[in-house]
Amino acid sequence: MIAIDGPSGAGKGTVARTLSEHLGYRHIDTGAMYRAVAWKAGHEALSLDDEPAVAALAARAKLIVEGGVVSIDGHDVTRTIRTPEIDKAAAAVARLPSVREVLVRRQRDEGRDGGVVMEGRDIGTVVFPDADVKVYLDASQEERARRRANDPAHTGSRVGQAAVAEAIQARDKSDTTRAVSPLTLAPDAVHIDTTNLPIPAVVERVLALVKEKVSRD
Ligand code: DC
Repeated sequence: MIAIDGPSGAGKGTVARTLSEHLGYRHIDTGAMYRAVAWKAGHEALSLDDEPAVAALAARAKLIVEGGVVSIDGHDVTRTIRTPEIDKAAAAVARLPSVREVLVRRQRDEGRDGGVVMEGRDIGTVVFPDADVKVYLDASQEERARRRANDPAHTGSRVGQAAVAEAIQARDKSDTTRAVSPLTLAPDAVHIDTTNLPIPAVVERVLALVKEKVSRD
């Protein structure tokens, strides 16, 4: 189990995908689960204040978040969940304790057999505290906003870097100050600042950690 945590725009998605390809592991993007639940709540016109209803939706939904495709109850939402509206709605959904409880349980089920690169905010701290390799990716706020603004998967990109920077700041605040499982660095995670580090170099660093772990065990 390889846990990759960190704020948005730190490079988690690209690093996790590339690592999973190198290792032949599954890649599970847990942020996409929160996003898909937020999308479905909107689709069903549920209020995000109605915590029991959103948690029930999260529990019964057929959710697929693998291989770069995200679908919920048969709707392919791969693209539609990458908008500024869903950025906000997903952060709100991620604050709901009973929704987290449901999704954490599903994430543990998904990762039970190992051979997984799982990315999120609380993978090394809460979901898999015994993960074999834990990495916390970070980058300066400016660089994270630049990456997000240039990310073609994010349809909000066109709004410009200043607006993206503001939205990222608001989400960072929500993710790091929420009562349940806030984004935080696990004491045994390896912290990598990716501000000036190209993705292949980050992947090399994590692969070295994996090799080290395998040779130790
Ligand atoms: O990684 P992302 O931007 O797609 O995540 C969407 C939202 O879900 C974001 O506000 C952080 C939150 N999240 C979380 O609370 N826990 C996770 N394991 C993954 C994401």
